[in-house]
Amino acid sequence: MSPSYRFSSSGARLAGRSGILELMDDLGRALTTDPGMRMLGGGNPAHIPAVDAVWRRRMTELMQDGDALERTLGNYDPPQGNPPFLRSLAAFLNRHCGWDLSPAHLAITAGGQSAFFYLFNLLAGPMPDGSQRRILLPLVPEYIGYANQGIHPDLFVACQPDIEELPDREFKYRVSFPRVEAALAQGDIGAICVSRPTNPSGNVLTDQEIARLSDLTRRAGIPLIIDNAYGLPFPGAVFTEAAPLWDDHIILTLSLSKLGLPGTRTGIVVAHPEIASAIAAMTSVIGLANTNAGQQLVKPLLDSDELLQLSRQVIRPFYEARARQAGQWMHEAFGTDPGWALHRCEGAFFRWLRLTDLPISSRELYQRLKARQVLVVPGEAFFFGLPHDWPHRTECLRLNCSGAPETVREALHLIADEVRLVRQSA
Ligand SMILES: Cc1ncc(COP(=O)(O)O)c(C=O)c1O
Repeated sequence: MSPSYRFSSSGARLAGRSGILELMDDLGRALTTDPGMRMLGGGNPAHIPAVDAVWRRRMTELMQDGDALERTLGNYDPPQGNPPFLRSLAAFLNRHCGWDLSPAHLAITAGGQSAFFYLFNLLAGPMPDGSQRRILLPLVPEYIGYANQGIHPDLFVACQPDIEELPDREFKYRVSFPRVEAALAQGDIGAICVSRPTNPSGNVLTDQEIARLSDLTRRAGIPLIIDNAYGLPFPGAVFTEAAPLWDDHIILTLSLSKLGLPGTRTGIVVAHPEIASAIAAMTSVIGLANTNAGQQLVKPLLDSDELLQLSRQVIRPFYEARARQAGQWMHEAFGTDPGWALHRCEGAFFRWLRLTDLPISSRELYQRLKARQVLVVPGEAFFFGLPHDWPHRTECLRLNCSGAPETVREALHLIADEVRLVRQSA
């Protein structure tokens, strides 16, 4: 007889079937059972040949460099990260961003995703004085990967943004500062967190919005977490004017994933040394040490600034061209049809399509598109932490348009066609 396992409340929450896990399973199944499926659903970085060639070259160099490979594979690093890598990274960030970081300001984690698990549970949840703290998302839709990371429930509170309507079928989310200030005034916020550029919308918070959030958090005595997974200086998938920002109360996270190295699971936290050493302590408890292959592959590229050139000359132009091309195809496919608009294309890997007055939800549209061999991500799951419902929640689709161009074009035409059928049958 198999045992009947009993899970703790926290265990059940972390191990449970979250909406996004079900969706990702469904996406994965559809993809493996139907080879004709057009994939606009995932968040994987594209395989850019010039970038893949750099990692292949670095792997060869590592194998030919004395006992470098044996040291990489055969040694545990300290939990904060590989000391020479941390020195190179601090020097790189100081050189290109004008900061004054030391290696003590840095901590490596097993991917950005783990960094968020550590940060959210460090800064929010039950506090020693018996109070509860939460993470404030000043703007949703926001990265779905945060949603189920709380060891304790109700970790997030989110603010509905303003929507600025723009010419040429575009719109842009803007932080609603009255709503953010009202949420902060509740007194239970442990940190504010934003992804910049934002997954899923491709929004890049303006320098003014970031400066205002920084000011609000500094005055409230709490950190501002900026998730820079797609941002500057690397991988640099930013198509608008935006300066990277760091300060003593800012926790900036970076990742090697969107450089084409998600398999190395390497995240980076840039923070006050008290936060960086807390993250290192949590790494030692949970993972003992970090993955070190990514650090070894990337270190010489930091020293030579090749990483900056790769970001500026290859990665950014690739994603920007794909995203803009998808926008043109969207006009070709939807033409003068009513009720469609795209978020302005400012960064990251996605186009965010809004379909107003559709008689079905984006979740139902996802199912209908899957039946026509087009995989997208319905927008509902990206609107977590809102204290009330917001009809906009069910109007959006996230489209990863960095796949094979002809497939993307075909898929966008099928989406437009299906939306037309849905509207006609209403
Ligand atoms: C906004 C954002 N933050 C963080 C992550 C985590 O990435 P990783 O754990 O691969 O560094 C992702 C991955 O897609 C992301 O889109």
